[in-house]
Amino acid sequence: MRYGRALLILIPVALLAGAALAEEDAGPAAETLLDERCTLCHGLDRVDAVQTDAEGWNTILDRMVTYGVRLDEAERETLLGHLLESEEE
Ligand code: HEC
Repeated sequence: MRYGRALLILIPVALLAGAALAEEDAGPAAETLLDERCTLCHGLDRVDAVQTDAEGWNTILDRMVTYGVRLDEAERETLLGHLLESEEE
């Protein structure tokens, strides 16, 4: 019975950890990036107004980087995935 009780505690912990990890590479991280990095010079309406493909977004992101936006490789991927996903809605 000792193991049964340990499992009862471990399962919710594992589920919570899993949920936190899932959130990491999906929407919320990208939303945070948008809020923190992309609202310094213009509103997100500017971002929402653009409909383009991966190439188009890369061109725009390159331009934003020349304006001073900091984006490392992983952040760029996250953001790009999110921007392309939003196009399909
Ligand atoms: C340092 C200031 C600055 C930051 C930070 C910034 N932008 Fe911009 N952004 C601009 C300026 C200036 C323009 C208008 C000139 C232009 O389109 O190049 C613009 C225009 C845009 C446009 C419209 C482009 C078009 O072709 O219509 C989009 C989309 C955009 N930004 C996305 C972003 C995203 C996504 C981020 C965050 C990664 C971001 N911006 C962060 C300065 C910034």
